[in-house]
Amino acid sequence: MTSLPLICPSILASDFAQLGAEVAAIEAAGADWVHLDVMDGHFVPNITLGPDIVKALRPHTTLPFDVHLMVAPVDPWLEAYRAAGADILTVHPESGPHLHRTLGRIRQLGAQAGVVFNPGTPLTIFEDVIELVDLVLVMSVNPGFGGQSFIDSSLRKIARVRTMLDAAGSKARLQVDGGVTAANAAACVAAGADALVAGTAVFRGGPSAYAANIAALKAA
Ligand code: DX5
Ligand code: ZN
Repeated sequence: MTSLPLICPSILASDFAQLGAEVAAIEAAGADWVHLDVMDGHFVPNITLGPDIVKALRPHTTLPFDVHLMVAPVDPWLEAYRAAGADILTVHPESGPHLHRTLGRIRQLGAQAGVVFNPGTPLTIFEDVIELVDLVLVMSVNPGFGGQSFIDSSLRKIARVRTMLDAAGSKARLQVDGGVTAANAAACVAAGADALVAGTAVFRGGPSAYAANIAALKAA
């Protein structure tokens, strides 16, 4: 049985010249999911992984692919990333006009549906889609780049989401993303998170450090 919190390394911080070996290495080091940050240079000021790269990585690991879509409009891309091997597709409410439809479409494609809240995005819409989500992601930085500092007020937001999920009887995962380190992981878990995304904190030190880096986060 998988222990909590789930550790979801963001390959944004990996060596892009060795992506296949990097995902295999984090699996061997004890990661639970692979977090893939898709950025379009429009919704966020950076460009990263197209569906062909996700597809090329799929044979290199058996871990679930947790695909964080920072793309607008997002709807035209759901099918391509699902076909490329995404198990979870997480979308920002700002990235399309009809969040309810988008989440329904993700499940229709056979993937798990995630919704993500930026630091400045209110949770008010969440109660209207709570039954449609398998994962809620609370951003603890503004999206676009790895290596940013954790925004402490995110802990309150995590706690509020935890209260909403429990009140609704939802079993959705509660994931945190951005600036997560061994120093703040325990606070995230105490606030109610059960899945931690970490880029810098996993990939720092190179492959020989991954197992210890993941274990330090898991100990939260
Ligand atoms: C930011 C991304 C994060 C980021 C995490 O837009 O969604 O997944 O890569 O990287 P660290 O852990 O370095 O903040
Ligand atoms: Zn992410």
